[in-house]
Amino acid sequence: MAFVRVCSLEDLWEGEMASFEINGHEILLLCAEGGEIKAFQGSCPHQDIPLVEGKFDGKTLVCRAHQWVFDACTGTGINPADCRLASYPVKIEDNQIYVDTAN
Ligand code: FES
Repeated sequence: MAFVRVCSLEDLWEGEMASFEINGHEILLLCAEGGEIKAFQGSCPHQDIPLVEGKFDGKTLVCRAHQWVFDACTGTGINPADCRLASYPVKIEDNQIYVDTAN
């Protein structure tokens, strides 16, 4: 396990998303409804479009290119259902967000 500090909790409000490069991985950080922080692969599994350019309403994430829809809590595809975003472990310590990209 190798957690890397990404940003502060104050940098990512509920319903917001941001993208970061961590150890060579493009990571999408989301603050889902209820305040849970999630880290997913930064590009769409369809055609590699940056997901941060899409829309996020706190519950679902929509890719801007062809409107694939993902559950923001699990990364599971909603439309289409047979896809999934890779997710990364997140931990919060002293108001700071850490992500582990080791696997
Ligand atoms: Fe994301 Fe096509 S690239 S839906």
